[in-house]
Amino acid sequence: MSTKKLLEILSDGQFVSGVKLANQLGVSRTTIWNQLNELKEKGIEFEKVRGKGYRMLGGLSVLREEWLRSVLATSEATAQIQFEVVQSIDSTNTKLVDSSGSWDENKYYVLAAESQTNGRGRRGKQWFTPYGRNICFSLGFVFTGNIEKLEGLSVVIGVILADVLSEYGVEGVSLKWPNDIYISGKKLGGILIELTGEFNSRCAVVIGVGLNVDVDGSTGFIIDQLWTSLRLEGYAIDRTDLLLSFILRLVDGIGRFLSFGSATYLERWASYDYLRGKLVEVHGRNMVGVASGLTENGCLILQVNGCESVLNSGEVSVRLSDG
Ligand code: BTN
Repeated sequence: MSTKKLLEILSDGQFVSGVKLANQLGVSRTTIWNQLNELKEKGIEFEKVRGKGYRMLGGLSVLREEWLRSVLATSEATAQIQFEVVQSIDSTNTKLVDSSGSWDENKYYVLAAESQTNGRGRRGKQWFTPYGRNICFSLGFVFTGNIEKLEGLSVVIGVILADVLSEYGVEGVSLKWPNDIYISGKKLGGILIELTGEFNSRCAVVIGVGLNVDVDGSTGFIIDQLWTSLRLEGYAIDRTDLLLSFILRLVDGIGRFLSFGSATYLERWASYDYLRGKLVEVHGRNMVGVASGLTENGCLILQVNGCESVLNSGEVSVRLSDG
C-alpha cells in the first residue's frame, strides 16, 4: 500500500472513516490501522474517534512531486535538473555523494526527502528531519576546474536562500557565517556543502539544505542551540512552493557564480550578516574578536586586539561571546 497516498488523503486534517480509507486504497482496515501506527512512530500524530474515523492532527502539507516535476520540465534551463522526492532516507547528502560518480556534467541532481533517519549537520552533528514538516534537500553537480573557483560558494548559497525567504515576505532573515540561516537570533536552517572526487579535475559538489518550516517543538525535535521555524515565526508558507523557488534560484545562481564569481553575493551578504560588529569566540582556537565582514573569498574577518585575523570556514566554527 502507498503510504504517500494515505498521507495525501489525510493531509487536510479532516476525519475520514476507516472504511473509506480502506476502499480508496484497496486494502483492509487492519492494514490501514497498522500503517497509521507506523506513521505515528515517525512522529505523525493521528486521532481516532468512534463514528468519525481518523484524522491527522494539524494536517500536513505533503510535497507535490508530480507538480514540481511538471514545472521543472517546462523550460530548457530546468529540464537539465534530475529531480526526485523520497519519503524517507538516511541522508539526502549521503545519497547524492554516493551516487555522484555516475553523474553527467552540465546536469543538476536534486534529491528532496519528507524525512531523514540520519540527517547530517556540519562538524559531525545530527540534523533532525521529522516527516513532512521541513524542507530537506540536496543539490549536486559536477565541477571540472580549479577548486579555488569554488571559494565563496557557501556565501552564494546562503545569500540565495535568504533572498528567496525575504521575497516570500519573511522579515529579519540573517546569515551567520559560514552556513546558518537565522531569524530573530534563532537558527532557522543550515547548509552542508560536501566536495568529493578529484579536486583539480572532476569533483562532485553536494549542497544540502535543511530549513525548519512547520515544526513546533512537539515532534521530538532535538537541536543543541536556540532554533525556530517559519511557523513559529508566524509564516504559513507552502513547502512545495518554497522548495521549487529554492531549486530554481540555486540553479540559476550557481550558474552565475561559476561564470562571474561571487562579488555581487558578497556585497549582499553584508545586508544579512548576523555576526557583523558582534564579539565572537572561535572554537578550538581560544580566540575572541569582533566580526567585521568577509574577505573576497568568503572568509570571516575578525578584529583581535587591533589586528585582523582571517578565518576559513573549513577550520572553525564561531559562537557569540558573552564578552
Ligand atoms: C548545519 O546547520 O549543521 C547544516 C545542516 C544541513 C542539513 C541538510 S538536510 C538535507 C541535507 N542532508 C543532510 O544529511 N544534511 C543536509
